[in-house]
Amino acid sequence: MSMYSDLTIQEATLEDVPSISELLKMYSETGILLPRSNTDIYHSLRNFRIICENGRLAACASLMIYNHELAEIRSLAVHPDYQNHGLGKRLVQQLEKEAVELGLARLMALTYVVGFFQDLEFKVVDMAKLPEKVWNACVHCRKFNNCDETAMVKYL
Ligand SMILES: CC(C)(COP(=O)(O)OP(=O)(O)OC[C@H]1O[C@@H](n2cnc3c(N)ncnc32)[C@H](O)[C@@H]1OP(=O)(O)O)[C@@H](O)C(=O)NCCC(=O)NCCS
Repeated sequence: MSMYSDLTIQEATLEDVPSISELLKMYSETGILLPRSNTDIYHSLRNFRIICENGRLAACASLMIYNHELAEIRSLAVHPDYQNHGLGKRLVQQLEKEAVELGLARLMALTYVVGFFQDLEFKVVDMAKLPEKVWNACVHCRKFNNCDETAMVKYL
């Protein structure tokens, strides 16, 4: 039982935007996550699930629907102080549950943490096989022309 297992997953609110922005910035500055502007976070706020400890943001993740069958896990980030306590895993499992409830068929992630997603039964796929729509977000990435992330998919 982890020391953080009693922290619950919640829907993000307007007040959470600055701390979500700060957490994502921590990882986008080193190229681990795509940068997201505050406007972008507001637009997709209802996609975000968060975990807080005493009002402090510990982790966040979002589910972005692409079409009738495919969604992507985006902006998965666990604050360094809270890593390796199962929070990342719980967030992915929650988004997966919601994806199933929505009737989606596939869940994907573009990531550097292949082992983490393999544990959650995602499989590595050829990035070129993902629909063109998925690439929309990539256009804004500074690594657009030499993407070194791994595409992973789970059939729900
Ligand atoms: C990757 C990340 C989301 C994992 O979250 P976390 O809460 O630290 O991980 P968890 O405690 O939920 O780990 C779940 C399992 O994955 C494994 N795992 C964690 N990080 C891993 C990694 N980098 N590589 C391989 N396996 C990993 C853990 O060992 C654990 O296995 P167990 O259940 O057998 O003990 C988190 O470390 C993070 O925010 N990293 C920086 C941002 C990032 O890379 N985000 C992913 C973008 S898609």
